[in-house]
Amino acid sequence: MTQKILVLPGDGIGPEITAQASRILAACQARGLDVEVEEALVGGAAYDAHGEPLPAETLQKAKEARAILLGAVGGPKWDTLEDLSKRPEKGLLGLRKNLGLFGNLRPAILYPQLASASSLKPEVVSGLDIMIVRELTGGIYFGQPRGIEERDGERVGYNTYVYSESEIERIGRVAFEMASKRSKKLCSVDKANVLEVTILWREVMERLAPEYPDVDLSHMYVDNAAMQLVRAPKQFDVMVTGNMFGDILSDAAAMLTGSIGMLPSASLNESGQGMYEPCHGSAPDIAGQNIANPLATILSVAMMLRYSLDAPALAARIEAAVGEVLDDGLRTADITADGVMTVSTAAMGDAVLAAFERQ
Ligand code: IPM
Ligand code: MG
Repeated sequence: MTQKILVLPGDGIGPEITAQASRILAACQARGLDVEVEEALVGGAAYDAHGEPLPAETLQKAKEARAILLGAVGGPKWDTLEDLSKRPEKGLLGLRKNLGLFGNLRPAILYPQLASASSLKPEVVSGLDIMIVRELTGGIYFGQPRGIEERDGERVGYNTYVYSESEIERIGRVAFEMASKRSKKLCSVDKANVLEVTILWREVMERLAPEYPDVDLSHMYVDNAAMQLVRAPKQFDVMVTGNMFGDILSDAAAMLTGSIGMLPSASLNESGQGMYEPCHGSAPDIAGQNIANPLATILSVAMMLRYSLDAPALAARIEAAVGEVLDDGLRTADITADGVMTVSTAAMGDAVLAAFERQ
């Protein structure tokens, strides 16, 4: 059966990097991948065209798709929009929430070729392979009540950090299963010394543990986890945490690998429908210059093939192609030690495509 894929380029460097990833997707189609690819607007681009960051038509197409490939959203042009519900980021959050994409997988893998691009010493990061499992549709990002209002003559801003047992259990199971397929070590990150919601988080993780006797569960406070990530990151294998802590820790983990420009992500719902996107943002400062790194988006296509389209051989082929271009010394500026690039966005896409064809 032909499966639908929706490409949402978004803003900033989004269109440039998804263009390269779409070429790889087309190459997979030529190799027999039975998909139909459509494009739609999201984020600031959708706001400019339709006055909404997530137009109804885009949401409908997203619901009908088996998988979505998203570039990035946001930029200074829209940062001053008073109405928060119109900001580009709301397009992304709306997709996550409406499709129930609660399970966010953010792998941080150091390509040995890039060890010198990391800000940490090579011996600290060599061989690094962490999987951050971030809860994506709950926590403080979505908790009610929220707002900014006048109280006693001044404005007060507030959000609500809330998780139900079932939400914690659902993401906990994703993490335990991931850990049992990997090195069987799971670290749950919380702030149980201060926040009730994460006392419950810890309790639920503990309650699940006996169901996964092969997995060794540990707990860490988020401040310590941030420190340990930059001190001795190889102590971690799978980490599981809530929405906001996961947002922060995954950026830190990404940078350990040399560049956030290398890291893909998957956001999955209960039926395996998924949205795939690079972990980095829209990088408005370098948009339109053909210098952004398309590899995280290309690797997101590989994750899509693996997790939503059941095509692991094509996924492995893409990953091998990326390894090959790195072996050949091709670098966008973000993955060099000195910041001097050897290839443009499009040339990197050309090279991955050529390596893919050679596999
Ligand atoms: C991410 C991003 C988003 C988030 C923003 C763009 C809303 O930082 O995917 O990590 O905070 O989740
Ligand atoms: Mg983030």
